[in-house]
Amino acid sequence: MSRPAGPGSAGGRGRPSVVVTRRLPAPVEEQLQREFDACLNSSDRPLTAAELQDALRSADALLPTVTDRITADVLAAEPLRARILANFGVGFNHIDVAAARARGLVVTNTPDVLTDDTADDAIMLMLMVARRGGEGERHVRSGAWTGWRPTHMLGTRVSGKTLGLIGLGRIGRAVARRARFGFDMRIVFHDPYPPPPAVLAELGAERKDSVEGVLREGDFVSIHSPATPETHHLIGAERLAVMKATAFLINTARGDIVDEAALVAALQAQRIAGAALDVYEREPQVTPALLTMENVVLLPHLGSATQETRVAMGMRALENLKAFFAGAAPRDRVA
Ligand code: 8YV
Repeated sequence: MSRPAGPGSAGGRGRPSVVVTRRLPAPVEEQLQREFDACLNSSDRPLTAAELQDALRSADALLPTVTDRITADVLAAEPLRARILANFGVGFNHIDVAAARARGLVVTNTPDVLTDDTADDAIMLMLMVARRGGEGERHVRSGAWTGWRPTHMLGTRVSGKTLGLIGLGRIGRAVARRARFGFDMRIVFHDPYPPPPAVLAELGAERKDSVEGVLREGDFVSIHSPATPETHHLIGAERLAVMKATAFLINTARGDIVDEAALVAALQAQRIAGAALDVYEREPQVTPALLTMENVVLLPHLGSATQETRVAMGMRALENLKAFFAGAAPRDRVA
């Protein structure tokens, strides 16, 4: 007797089918194959919009990543078979959540498991840009190093300085903890939804009523907001002008929170001291001028890129799928 098509069932067709849009770490792919009728992407080539639509028509679920643009057009696929988008990643701004909801699709993400690694990435970028890490590496590798001298490649001290955080959610707090207890930094932040006072007391974090309040005081300003219509180009020309001329901007959140053209202009005019970026407005494209600047550190969206975290993200997406198809509420439902 086949199971009736309930809220989470695969329509009575046996194991639910899942299209996985990119290669995932081997333990995750193996587990997906054990638990689902999984269609894996062995070539790791990003799916086109038409291929995403085919997946939505042919499978019960999609397991997408940040490289899939799941727009309202893509979600208009007919007839729609998929019932859930189990995103691999905490950020889901590449998914039109309202359109997904309108089509009756559940959307989940993978919070928590990538918090520490992403915070480590932000701290790495802060140290690299302050202490000229990328530049020094290029210097040695190019054979240009002529030896130690007292005035060679002097950077900026990090310890004891002020770190301004735009956003004090999970990742912002993990950065604050590292900065405060590892580098004795003063923490100032702006967040429209600040954590409870006990958390602020533990971090010694000072709340500012505006983004500008943070920008005015930060020796380093690190962005930890989600990408939403409200945070699009949150940091543009006017706000960059508020920063100290000696300050550095760090972005491990989403590229379009910063107006990349305005950032380039601010760097060219030396209105700020430097920038360290893990994310870009048009990934994988990077504004060419940034590539030529020694006071800019550029990483290829590495925030969560450790073996441990990428496995944990995959397992979390898998757990969300399992819960959904078991008829339970997925833990990380965002729509
Ligand atoms: C992921 C990220 O690698 O989770 C996020 O929001 O930015 C990254 O850590 C990426 O989203 C995977 O889809």
